[in-house]
Amino acid sequence: MNEYPRTIKAYPKEWIELLDGLTESELFAIDGKFIIDKIQGSTFAKFMEQANSLSTVDFQKNCQEIPLEDWAYNGVKKKKRHEIQKIAPVISELKKNNQIDSVVDIGGGVGHLSRVLAHYHSIPTISLDRNLEFQKIGKERLKKYRRIENAAEVEFVSLNFGSDIDNHDLLAQIFKPNSFGLGLHTCGPLANTLINQTIEFKTAGLLNFGCCYHSLDPKNDFPLSQFYKSNNPLHLSLYSLTLATRSHGQMTISDYQTKERVKYYRYALHLFLVQYFQKKDFIEVGECNTRIYWGAFSDYISMKLKELNIEHQFSELEFNQFFDLAETKMKLREMWLCNLIRWQLGRTLEVYLLIDRCLYLEEQGFNVSIAQYFKEALSPRNIGILALIKK
Ligand SMILES: C[S@@+](CC[C@H](N)C(=O)[O-])C[C@H]1O[C@@H](n2cnc3c(N)ncnc32)[C@H](O)[C@@H]1O
Repeated sequence: MNEYPRTIKAYPKEWIELLDGLTESELFAIDGKFIIDKIQGSTFAKFMEQANSLSTVDFQKNCQEIPLEDWAYNGVKKKKRHEIQKIAPVISELKKNNQIDSVVDIGGGVGHLSRVLAHYHSIPTISLDRNLEFQKIGKERLKKYRRIENAAEVEFVSLNFGSDIDNHDLLAQIFKPNSFGLGLHTCGPLANTLINQTIEFKTAGLLNFGCCYHSLDPKNDFPLSQFYKSNNPLHLSLYSLTLATRSHGQMTISDYQTKERVKYYRYALHLFLVQYFQKKDFIEVGECNTRIYWGAFSDYISMKLKELNIEHQFSELEFNQFFDLAETKMKLREMWLCNLIRWQLGRTLEVYLLIDRCLYLEEQGFNVSIAQYFKEALSPRNIGILALIKK
């Protein structure tokens, strides 16, 4: 929508008209991927069905939670706790089967996952992160946790993974043949670096959950696999990568209304800049406090014009009249409905991108599986790639 109205051609007119005839709660259901009765039999319903089926990834079967004492999760947020509970049994199983003997947690943050694996599953771990503050907190906290019998060590390593090329020797010590790379929410290219280091050092394998696909370089970071490269891959622009990053967490109707309100104000600002300041390109302005979006449009736009250092003589009344114009309202509604259409494809794009990573690892000599590990409501970036070197 950033290139509206040029991009509107891509959206079938009958889909926009169909959605325009729906109530707010019906649109809320569509946004939640429900094919409601009113759209049954339409080509849009077929599109939704196809998008849903292309994004379905089976749940990981072997991640039966292993109950741990509450103390293990002291200071750990609900989302992180759920993720650790799902990941730890899978890794523990690999250790028991002697497929791995240690873990390197890439982008390990404050190191909760590393700690639980080391303390409760006796797996020596390295929590690697470039953020010194996180590592400092992690080291301090580690001293406060109860020392468990048979606990293995947690080591914190500060490294800007992927850009410290001089650190080959250090990496060779970390990425040993029987070590296993873990990447829980490796932002953008960090996942590619983990994959490539695993291949280069021929380690036992990896378990990776991607996120922040919009920080991938559309030219160099996709596709990775020869299979995609030789089969006419889709070009994933920055917009597609941003769409793949979209959260899929369940929403309440009030979250939906706020999301709509934010977009209406944001797009109205864009339309205003196009009309009165000839600024055709979409300008980054950042979000603001939710309260602002529920106030008058004039307050929002005055604030944003000030931030952009754009001088003007418009009054509050003129700003609000612009927002209330039938023509503006019609355009904003159209943009909103188009968003509801394109958002259907977020998860599909994510799966498309992750399958490329799987194929690449297969081509490089790994057995690979892809599965959903976490509940969507708790952790929307929940697809894990498990790769184990072929012996
Ligand atoms: C989304 S957070 C995930 C943190 C942790 N794995 C978790 O699930 O809570 C990504 C982490 O990766 C770290 N990170 C990002 N790029 C990195 C790089 N190139 N080298 C090392 N750490 C990096 C960040 O500092 C951050 O702690």
